Amino acid sequence: MTTTQSHALYERAVRVTTAGVHSNSRARKPYPLYFQRADGPFVWDVDGHRYIDLGMGNGAILLGHNHAAVQEAVARTLQSGLTTGLESEIAVRAAELFVKLVPAAEQVRFTNTGTEALLHVLQMARAYTGRRKIAKVEGAYHGWADPVFVSTWPNLALAGPDGAPVALPGTGGLDPKIVRETLVLPLNDLAATEALLSQHASELAAILVEPTLIDAGFIPAEREYLLMLRDFADKTGTVLVFDELLTGFRLALGGAQSYYNIQADLALFGKALGNGYPVAAVAGKAAFMEQSAPGPGNAAFVGTFNGHAVVMAAVEASLQELASGEAVALLQTRTHALIEAFAASAKRHGVPAQMQGCGGHIHWYFTGEPVRTYRQAARASSQRYSAFVDVLAESGFLVSPNYLLHHAISVAHNDATLEALAEAMDRGLAAAAQTEE
Ligand SMILES: Cc1ncc(COP(=O)(O)O)c(C=O)c1O
Repeated sequence: MTTTQSHALYERAVRVTTAGVHSNSRARKPYPLYFQRADGPFVWDVDGHRYIDLGMGNGAILLGHNHAAVQEAVARTLQSGLTTGLESEIAVRAAELFVKLVPAAEQVRFTNTGTEALLHVLQMARAYTGRRKIAKVEGAYHGWADPVFVSTWPNLALAGPDGAPVALPGTGGLDPKIVRETLVLPLNDLAATEALLSQHASELAAILVEPTLIDAGFIPAEREYLLMLRDFADKTGTVLVFDELLTGFRLALGGAQSYYNIQADLALFGKALGNGYPVAAVAGKAAFMEQSAPGPGNAAFVGTFNGHAVVMAAVEASLQELASGEAVALLQTRTHALIEAFAASAKRHGVPAQMQGCGGHIHWYFTGEPVRTYRQAARASSQRYSAFVDVLAESGFLVSPNYLLHHAISVAHNDATLEALAEAMDRGLAAAAQTEE
């Protein structure tokens, strides 16, 4: 397949844009692809090739690209001339609908990115508790801020004992003092986590957890684990924060908090909230949300583009589409069918592998052992994963070469696309079977 136009664009881009991309996650060797159009499950690159997208904006585009109702709402709002710096009725309606759909949220405030929402939450938790320290789970990604880009995809050789992970910087440029300050928890290890939390109980402002580690593939937190965190937070007055950027609207309409029937004090949302438009949210119990109201000692909550009218139109339209629950139910059924097809193929080809996922998030682990922790995920075979996704790529799917990054389908991935995916997965497994671990 020739991608000469992408190559040419890369040559231009790299002169004016570092690495030729605006997010390092899009960098590719020898050069990234550049795109010109998207519709439903499809994207077209600048050379005119059509792909079935399995990235879907890092899981953000739940309804499919170019969704009619979302695009119409955006276009209508563009006509009004409203953009940012002012409150609008659209933002009020979007917040009302959000609070209706997410039972754990009494209040919500919108920001632009998950990283910003996370920074707000950390300040709010510190304002509420008067404490400083943050606990997070090994392998979880919560954005690129210093206290949380810690032990995100850590090198196992440096990561310390299973039950007491060492806090490792996720990138250069972080303040080592802040990194060291973060307490790193081993997911689904109740005893070790409880011991670590107890040692630091008097210093902890927040426990931050992604109820399913989706940036490490798809690793569900066990319910008992989340219940233990809830209990610890209640007993010690620590703020329990769920990062629902990816679980939101996919595990259940009300997010992981509905799925597990466990309420966090504060939660972060984003991604599917705007079906591709830049938005995130902090939501939760009023007593905690009030920590960000204007007032002495409270945390800041400010942003030039917060509650942008055009983005709010996308949020309202996306939430209206989700409100019946049909979209989430459909995605869950389809994800389940793909998982079953994969399991049957893996068995037939004799490959120790498993597909995990829910609500359109999907991931393939090439390992025989059930994946309950980041460390198990990291030990899965990256070689077999590569052999597998290479076949998917040759079959017209847009996939990530990174064996720890998840994929996603949308409501627009219809039966025909998913049949094609099941067939490609079968051929991919045949290739993986021929590959050394
Ligand atoms: C679970 C999770 N939290 C936070 C973030 C950060 O969000 P953003 O990229 O909007 O800053 C991401 C982004 O991938 C994410 O997946």
